[in-house]
Amino acid sequence: PLVRLRDYRAPAWRMERVDLSFDLDAEQTLVEARLELRQDPERPDAELRLDGSALDLLEIRLDGRDIGTDRYRIEADGLVVCGVRGSAILETRSRIRPIANTAMQGLYLSGALETGFLLSQCEAEGFRHITWSIDRPDVLAPYTVTLRADRERYPVLLAGGGREAAGELDDGRHWVRYVDPQPKPSYLFALVAGRLHSIEDAYTTAEGRRVRLAIWAEAAVLDRCRHAMDCLKAAFLWDEQTYGRSYRLDAFHIVATHDFTMGAMENTGLNIFNSKYLLADPLHATDDDFRHVLAVVGHEYFHNWTGNRVTCRDWFQLSLKEGLTVYREQEFESDLASRTLRRIEDVRSLWRTQFAEDAGPLAHPVRPDQYREINNFYTTTVYDKGAEIVRMLATLLGREGFRRGMDLYFERHDGSAVTVEDFLAALGDANALDLGCWLGWYRQAGTPVLEAHSHYDAERRCLELTLRQHTAATSGQSEKQPLPIPVALAFFDQRGNRLPLQCDDAERLRGDVLLLEEAEATFRFTNLDSSPVTSLLRGYSAPVRLVTSFDARGLAILASHETDGFNRWQAADAMARQAFAQLLAGERGGQPFLEAWICSLRASLAESAIEPATLAEMLTVADLAALAEPLAEIDPDAVFKARLTLETSLARALEPELLESYAALASASAEGTEPAAQARRRLRNRCLQLLCVVDRRHHVLAAAHYTRASCLSDRLGALTCIVHSAASAAPALLEEFAAAYRDDPTVMDKWFAVQATMPSAAALERVCELTGHPAFRWDNPNKVHALLLGLAHRNPIVFHRLDGEGYRFTAAAIRKLDAINPQVAARLATAFGGWQRMEPRRRAVMREEMRRLRTAENLSADVADILGRSLGES
Ligand code: ARG
Ligand code: ZN
Repeated sequence: PLVRLRDYRAPAWRMERVDLSFDLDAEQTLVEARLELRQDPERPDAELRLDGSALDLLEIRLDGRDIGTDRYRIEADGLVVCGVRGSAILETRSRIRPIANTAMQGLYLSGALETGFLLSQCEAEGFRHITWSIDRPDVLAPYTVTLRADRERYPVLLAGGGREAAGELDDGRHWVRYVDPQPKPSYLFALVAGRLHSIEDAYTTAEGRRVRLAIWAEAAVLDRCRHAMDCLKAAFLWDEQTYGRSYRLDAFHIVATHDFTMGAMENTGLNIFNSKYLLADPLHATDDDFRHVLAVVGHEYFHNWTGNRVTCRDWFQLSLKEGLTVYREQEFESDLASRTLRRIEDVRSLWRTQFAEDAGPLAHPVRPDQYREINNFYTTTVYDKGAEIVRMLATLLGREGFRRGMDLYFERHDGSAVTVEDFLAALGDANALDLGCWLGWYRQAGTPVLEAHSHYDAERRCLELTLRQHTAATSGQSEKQPLPIPVALAFFDQRGNRLPLQCDDAERLRGDVLLLEEAEATFRFTNLDSSPVTSLLRGYSAPVRLVTSFDARGLAILASHETDGFNRWQAADAMARQAFAQLLAGERGGQPFLEAWICSLRASLAESAIEPATLAEMLTVADLAALAEPLAEIDPDAVFKARLTLETSLARALEPELLESYAALASASAEGTEPAAQARRRLRNRCLQLLCVVDRRHHVLAAAHYTRASCLSDRLGALTCIVHSAASAAPALLEEFAAAYRDDPTVMDKWFAVQATMPSAAALERVCELTGHPAFRWDNPNKVHALLLGLAHRNPIVFHRLDGEGYRFTAAAIRKLDAINPQVAARLATAFGGWQRMEPRRRAVMREEMRRLRTAENLSADVADILGRSLGES
């Protein structure tokens, strides 16, 4: 059914207390729920309706008495109890089957029947797969949870809240009771039961509370949890120092599982993590993994305040917690690791995935106004564009102003379920500002285009900068308003010296940020002796597509002298894109951008002061999706060819410098895992990759790199170079790698991904074959992500094979997966979302494939929704 924001009504009934007890077993679990319910006195006629899905109802009592089928009826996704008024105590006993729950929503089994453990995932609407309840985020209640299970099979029993009591039962069973007194929405409920082991630590908060910290995992990987524990303590401290927010429960548990649909989940007191974002040691995780663990551990911890204590009124407000928490996570990583690197990665992914989403049929506002399947709205728009909005607000208000606003937000709304309007009101009120116009960013889909034109007047020594904004229509939203756009900028002279910013309209320039509020405005900057080089959107101050008349000379100056690391990279990237556009258009003759680009990178490689991570990113040519994203019509083979020429020209021109840098960084392989060492390794691996592109001769270097590697980053870096350049050693090395890491699911995921992303049409046959590999599993989301989403989302030349085989293979995979895990199948189906911008032949085949898929029997609501919207039919 279609759910609309404008139809929102406060709940007619609320749960005031929730008492649950579980008789846990993988094959069948019995769930008893006792709900204390109260009706809104304003709505005496509202019936009592409970959410529940695929539950076997065994008993039902109202106010202590059994009731018959004349008093209630079971619907497709709920239960209606008739004739109840005012208040009620409803007790139910139901049966669920965790082992059959392959969709991983509700209670399910991770691992094998005999050895695995039970765990739950409730966000967004998984709680209704566990028991009957009012399953919506604006219904908050304290929870008491009693877990009973066989002691030998399920020695560890965990739930959110404090452990209150425990004991033994007959026949080798035991029980534990948890109480979570702080009212919470059902989506934050969690339990875990099984043979798990923990590492423990403690953190004493600024408020003087000693919090017990425990990370739980299977015995074999326990040592790999140390890094996450360090990250967790760092997150506790950072939130106290940055936002004055302390943790207020006595325990914080994290559990790692290989079987998880998403990245991780912030359940109060009991976070559950996908192993790939928790486990990290140098031999089994890459440097990127180390940083991802830092980010995700931080993210889930920060939800404690932004999400849990202050939660969402309804799922339309999802970005209220996710956008804000992604922003907090970004800042956390930026403070602890490399700010420039994190910013470059975020912007790259924004361009590649969010801009693409915004430009296609799946475009939606950061706060959607309707949905059929909420799980399909855990998108890059809600998360990442949402984070960009918060970042713009933080830029606008400044560090202290933003902190004042956040303080007020927490003070006003701790313990309640609120909206984006409440968030903007708190930030505004704390700063005596009306932020009403910022709601536009949450309401309006599509990427604004920011046009910039400047004119220098030598006589008056001034520069006129005209900024113009425009957002193209998106599906279902034809009218667009101008949005407030903060533009951070700087001027440089021809030698790269920073020039002062003096604006006629001093009001509109705050520090180095101009605020464009209207469709078009012209700003006059004075006191400029010559025409300056303008650096716009420093730090990427707004999520807009910048259109301006680039000149190679100006960009070269910025690529060498910009002091904002991000914009230094952006200048190099812009040169590469200009060169790419010329190659794609088949322009002959001089290649000023290509030459300027190569020249700048040569100079940067020789520079000692540059941050290695920034340099490594400058040497990384945008991927195919990122290069294709701005094009009106995409021919993947042409994009691939032009990109290859671009990368090869660079590598060939810089071969001696790359060899020299590679050698100079020799010691990096053996260094530790701190950010500086990671950055040097990143640069070294980047040099190696480019060298392998130029000349097969350098495969020897890669082979030696592989053999001598003392960490997974280097080993995988070398493997990728060899496999992606189709070196003759590739098959043997792949075998060797698989033999070495056979029993390691997180490492094997990378092995699958390397092959899924091979830049060769034949990768399709290989991927097809790999679905039969003993380490591959259709029911494991990480495997599916690595191999199938790897191909469909990250290997455009294979997915878009002209013979249509990439589409057919993916469509068949979607059908197969849909019967197992509809959420994962729907994610895969979004690969077809870009069909309208493909060249005509592929466009037709993609559309045909989607239509066929749509008629498949028993299609899930998840996949049907993605296909329907992609085809523009719903
Ligand atoms: N809230 C989780 C996070 O930290 C993600 C949960 C996603 N759940 C889902 N059904 N899509 O981002
Ligand atoms: Zn989140």
